Amino acid sequence: MTALEIDALSHHFGGLTALSNVSLAVAPGERLAIIGPNGAGKTTLFDLVTGIIRPSAGRIRLFGQDVTRLPTHRRARLGLARTFQITTLFPRLTVLDSVLLAVQGLDPVRFTVHRSRERYGHLRERAESLLADWGLADRARQVTRQLSYGEQRQVELVLALAGVPKVLLLDEPTAGLSPAETASVVEMIRRFSRDTTILLIEHDMDVALDLVDRVAVLFQGRVLAEGSKDQIRSDREVAAIYLGTDDA
Ligand SMILES: Nc1ncnc2c1ncn2[C@@H]1O[C@H](COP(=O)(O)OP(=O)(O)O)[C@@H](O)[C@H]1O
Ligand SMILES: [Mg+2]
Repeated sequence: MTALEIDALSHHFGGLTALSNVSLAVAPGERLAIIGPNGAGKTTLFDLVTGIIRPSAGRIRLFGQDVTRLPTHRRARLGLARTFQITTLFPRLTVLDSVLLAVQGLDPVRFTVHRSRERYGHLRERAESLLADWGLADRARQVTRQLSYGEQRQVELVLALAGVPKVLLLDEPTAGLSPAETASVVEMIRRFSRDTTILLIEHDMDVALDLVDRVAVLFQGRVLAEGSKDQIRSDREVAAIYLGTDDA
């Protein structure tokens, strides 16, 4: 069974075709990079898979179940999680409180509802151990907006892992990071459990190829190429796009 199956997916924004007849299948535990130039439709694909937008045509299946019409929270319950291209942390919460929210799967409003000390203690332990696992224990009491941008991106990854996702979509997790920060984030993703299927949108082809098993190249809303890292590295059309020699 596939973890994620994208079947002939198309999406139009008014007259603009953002995605056109895209099909991809991702096996459980597999890591697939989705690369392609700006505007290729990568983020739109993630928005469709998570249910933020509905496709104009096509189907999406998670572990064999058709989720094309399911709302976002139902897909999350089936084990789907994502991070966004831009930081979406709560800037005024501490790192620990942010992770506490994520381990509970709660929004901030419900978070304020009274919980028994026993239950809270258990959740807190889990949040603290997650932060310790990922080398962020000494940041737990800091307010997230005080962290460096690189650390904020790391906290976002911890939040995404808090729900123990089966399928995790990462949208440009290294965007805007320095080389050193990029290295930290790459190291973190490399350590993710192989129980988690990963789709990674990554602008930097070297970073992408470093982290995944297989690559799909989107160009102008279509899958231009799909294959092993070696196949993608030696694909002349892909090289043309990335070297900017293609005038299409
Ligand atoms: N909400 C939207 N409304 C209209 N057009 C959009 C919207 N989101 C994306 N687009 C357009 O769809 C195309 C694909 O965008 P996107 O999926 O963000 O590309 P990528 O993530 O590969 O850079 C682009 O031409 C973009 O301008
Ligand atoms: Mg994008």
